[in-house]
Amino acid sequence: MDEIVKELVEICPVDELEPGQSKIIDINNRSIGVFNVGGNFFALANLCPHAGGPLCKGQVTGTSVADKPYAVSWQRSGEIVRCPWHSWEFDIATGKTLTDPTRSVRTFKTVVKNGHLYIETGASR
Ligand code: FES
Repeated sequence: MDEIVKELVEICPVDELEPGQSKIIDINNRSIGVFNVGGNFFALANLCPHAGGPLCKGQVTGTSVADKPYAVSWQRSGEIVRCPWHSWEFDIATGKTLTDPTRSVRTFKTVVKNGHLYIETGASR
C-alpha cells in the first residue's frame, strides 16, 4: 500500500495576499489557485471538473440567489470563483459547485505559520 507523504509548500508572506486577492502557483507540475477570502486562505486545483478549464483564473464574485419568485438577491460576494470557460460557480471555501454540490474541485489545506502562508500537498510513494 502506498504511503501518503504530506509536504508543506511555502506560497508567500501572509501580507502579500490581501483579502480579495488570489494567486496561481505551480507545484510539481500542478497548477493551484490560492485565495484570501476575508482573511481566510483557501487553495483549489486550477482545473475545473466540468471540462478542464483554468478555474482559478476566473472572476472572484458572489452569486444570485432567488429565495422565492421575483426575489433575487446578490449574496456571498467574494466567496465564489466563476470558471472562465462555461461559468460554473464554485464555493472557494469548499471547492463545491453551487448548482450541484456533488461536483467539486480538489482543495488543499492551507497553513499560516510564522507570518507565511503554506499549502499542504500530498504525494504517494
Ligand atoms: S470548464 Fe469550467 S465550467 Fe466548463
